[in-house]
Amino acid sequence: MGWMNPRWGMRKGQPLSSLHVNPGNLPRHVAIIMDGNGRWAHRRGLPRVAGHRAGMKAVKEVTRAADEIGIQVLTLYAFSTENWKRPREEVDYLMRLPQEFLDRELQELDEHGVRVRLIGETDGLPPHTLRAVEAAMGRTRNNTGLILNFALNYGARAELVNAVRSIARRVKDGELRPEDVDEATISAALQTRGLPDPDLLIRTSGELRISNFLLWQIAYSELWFTDVLWPDFTREHLFEAVRAYQSRQRRFGGVDSLPPSDVHSGQ
Ligand code: FPP
Repeated sequence: MGWMNPRWGMRKGQPLSSLHVNPGNLPRHVAIIMDGNGRWAHRRGLPRVAGHRAGMKAVKEVTRAADEIGIQVLTLYAFSTENWKRPREEVDYLMRLPQEFLDRELQELDEHGVRVRLIGETDGLPPHTLRAVEAAMGRTRNNTGLILNFALNYGARAELVNAVRSIARRVKDGELRPEDVDEATISAALQTRGLPDPDLLIRTSGELRISNFLLWQIAYSELWFTDVLWPDFTREHLFEAVRAYQSRQRRFGGVDSLPPSDVHSGQ
């Protein structure tokens, strides 16, 4: 499916009722643990990298679908800090995919107002990977549509360690008093600063784990797991997850549906 899919052409402003998605109650931020590429390939007698290649196609379809229904932020776990343990060839392949994806898709993404962002330990990325993503970020920095946030060489504990260090430095320098450190201080010290927390976290392939993804940010996220392997994940699966999200009542530990930050700001 190309970007000129007619449904894509009719997107914004189109009633979402045909998709059975309620436009008034969309998750602002959807985060996805894209799992099952290896198994997808194995079941077809293909090398693991063929699964990653097919996974890249799913990234394209899901990005388009997320924008189509008006999701504001899509965070995709493309490479974890633990994924370096994989065979060298597979790591090299995975590190080439962002560049390949952006070479092919950036023009269209840009035309649709998509803004590319990156979270993760950028120092550890191969220069060609980092260059490609940084160029895409630069080109799309003023766009105001969907934020497509790639988690590359990302680990939530490492992100929290860095956040604690930066806060500790500010305290040491006398800029901040320990008693003034609150949840907002920590959120602002994370790489997701400025983004809403994920409302919906999706994990494919039947695994029921968080795998060091956005540990702070998902405190109140709705979780949705599916047995579908990532390369088989389509726009319909995304809409299914959104419908499941919309059928749930979020309480945030209280009796109403306001996230804690909104409750605080109302006091
Ligand atoms: C997990 O499946 C998947 C990954 C570690 C890589 C995810 C990467 C992509 C989907 C492509 C990224 C594309 C872009 C554009 C950044 P697995 O290999 O662990 O599968 P398995 O558990 O079945 O072995």
